[in-house]
Amino acid sequence: MKKATVIISAFVLLALIMFACAKQEEEAMEVDPTAELAASVEHGKELFYDESLGTSGMTCNSCHMEGGTKGGKMGDMTIRAFDDLGSKYPKYFGMATRVMTLSQVNNWCIVNPLEGEALAWDDQKLADLTAYVASVKPAPIEE
Ligand code: HEC
Repeated sequence: MKKATVIISAFVLLALIMFACAKQEEEAMEVDPTAELAASVEHGKELFYDESLGTSGMTCNSCHMEGGTKGGKMGDMTIRAFDDLGSKYPKYFGMATRVMTLSQVNNWCIVNPLEGEALAWDDQKLADLTAYVASVKPAPIEE
């Protein structure tokens, strides 16, 4: 190849890359982050009631009742209602006897009580489930 051809090819390639980047930026600007998060929380809520995350026939809601808004009991263990967990993790998670992120705790409950396979770190389902869990506020105490 001639030197000039190489240089021209390089320029064309650079122009194409710049065009692709500009287009991506344009698309990114059209995204509504608030709506994206709301959709993620909504999908996470569906997963919370989905027994196909595991094999034990249970869902997250079997123990974290009413979508995690109500506490319950498992044997003599108290299960607290979820309360702004996004601000509380990472922290020491007693059942696993180590510090965990909120996503890891969700995976821990998938692997153990649900007897399922852990979701990969980049699986959107894990982000959605965690977005939902983090969004939960406890139900008001009934009189
Ligand atoms: C068999 C019952 C059971 C099922 C089913 C279950 N969990 Fe749990 N989960 C527990 C127990 C017990 C704890 C520990 C409670 C504690 O330490 O206060 C816990 C703790 C948690 C916590 C931490 C709560 C806190 O207050 O720090 C999260 C988050 C959680 N589970 C998410 C899930 C998700 C998501 C699912 C479904 C994939 C699920 N769990 C399914 C029993 C269960």
